[in-house]
Amino acid sequence: MKDKVQTLEELREQSLAGGGAKRVADQHKKGKLTARERIHLLLDEGSFEEIGDLVLHRALNFGMDKEKYPGDGVITGYGTINGRLVYIFSQDFTVFGGSLSETHAEKIVRIMDMAMKNGAPIIGLNDSGGARIQEGVESLGGYADIFYRNTIASGVVPQISAIMGPCAGGAVYSPAITDFVLMVENTSYMFVTGPNVVKTVTHEEVTFEELGGAMTHATKSGVTHFVAANEADCLARIKQLLSYIPQNCEEIAPVYDYEPKDESRPKLANFIPQNPNQPYDMKEVIRELVDQDSFFEVHENFAENIVVGFARIAGRSIGVVANQPSVLAGVLDIKSSAKGARFVRFCDAFNVPLLVLEDVPGFMPGTDQEWNGIISNGAKLLFAFCEATVPKITVITRKAYGGAYCVMNSKHIGADMNFAWPTAEIAVMGAKGAAEIIFRKEIQSAADPEKKLQEKVDEFTEKFAHPYGAAARGFVDEVIHPEITRTKLIRAFEMLQNKAEQLPRKRHTNIPL
Ligand code: HXC
Repeated sequence: MKDKVQTLEELREQSLAGGGAKRVADQHKKGKLTARERIHLLLDEGSFEEIGDLVLHRALNFGMDKEKYPGDGVITGYGTINGRLVYIFSQDFTVFGGSLSETHAEKIVRIMDMAMKNGAPIIGLNDSGGARIQEGVESLGGYADIFYRNTIASGVVPQISAIMGPCAGGAVYSPAITDFVLMVENTSYMFVTGPNVVKTVTHEEVTFEELGGAMTHATKSGVTHFVAANEADCLARIKQLLSYIPQNCEEIAPVYDYEPKDESRPKLANFIPQNPNQPYDMKEVIRELVDQDSFFEVHENFAENIVVGFARIAGRSIGVVANQPSVLAGVLDIKSSAKGARFVRFCDAFNVPLLVLEDVPGFMPGTDQEWNGIISNGAKLLFAFCEATVPKITVITRKAYGGAYCVMNSKHIGADMNFAWPTAEIAVMGAKGAAEIIFRKEIQSAADPEKKLQEKVDEFTEKFAHPYGAAARGFVDEVIHPEITRTKLIRAFEMLQNKAEQLPRKRHTNIPL
């Protein structure tokens, strides 16, 4: 090989002679696109500018000096998506299994640095066998260089990771640090240690898919925020996601055209069931409140007792955090608290106002929850809402009980506006539980304890199962009919558009991790 003096054409030819065409065919056979095809599907037509396409690795061991391919297993550059600048890297599995060499890492680092300087999102399309085994610490160092930049870029520019093949070992930590992870069903997997090591160490027999496939991470670990049916779907979702978020932390998300019209939504009056213990689907409430078809759910399959996602109200992007009464009665538990907290922090970092829809019976009881840290995990959500300085609005649709009332963006922790529907119940706990505790002796000594309990439940309900006590204290700004909620939200978010709030100077907060 003539090394640097070769032309691109010569290098490409050599690459094909070395089995390139077959490798591309293999990739297609697995239902995967090539690195370049992915870029072309994702970016605006003709917008991609490649950087470093002639870069070659420098390894000499194991005959590597004779096997060099232009670009060294990763395509890097910039382009636009719907006219907005993005930086992108796309790992090429057909070259050494997309494994990360020192130079491969340098190319990724280069575009990350450029994204930071120029304030635009970084998109990583991951398809890699991990550290280039023929290299040593150079490859490991390359990973660490990337992890460092992922961390420094966090909260500065949005970072999106699509997993479109293997992502194993320490390699998983780059996507894990980024803001959003997408996985493709059946063709992608992520794990720190693979099935063979698992079998040796724990004697568990588990397949790649069970251990680290898309549905595993969507439902069990929450590592992935989105599951795509195929690669085209995955790339389409990246585009959709970007439409709700700004280029960097100094900007706001794109504003869509919006024609004011009749904003009343009569259907909203019918969602809350007569029986306060009956569930309803909060996603239907969300869809009715926000601009038509604008709700884009994040983490759909994980901790479904809380719903988070982006939407638009009068053309402007918002983040929605909502208790889901149809799953575990909307209770807050470890997973839902962590899920909610991470989303709130993303929105706050990137100027996306928050809408909270509250119907929460409290925190989940039980040894499992207590021993696994509902205290510190619940605190994450509380902390995230407390420190968020973006516009924050809450609508209490039904239950706002106990600590969960405080946590779910109450006025006390900085909500700018707090609306309640007439069906709101704001109390330390539900009427039955409360009556059983505070009137225990009276109930026990009554001639008919059942009747007495019911009397006391009714008494408690009358006193607390409404929003007027909170409204009288100003903790609820207005009790509104559900039909006019959208109108109220449009006006309130508009009023809060220029909100500027500074937290006290500090090195950084210490969120209970
Ligand atoms: C060099 C690699 C490679 C790697 C794959 N290849 N992984 N080359 N370094 N890490 C090469 C293969 O030799 C093969 O080359 C080609 O890529 C395609 O690989 P296949 O094995 O044929 O593909 P497939 O059957 O689809 O299997 C994919 C795979 C497997 C499961 C990813 O390749 C694999 O297990 N690779 C090793 C994974 C690994 O242990 N990586 C290191 C993890 S440690 P030829 O020429 O034969 O076609 C790590 C530490 C990071 O990453 C630490 C960061 C802090």
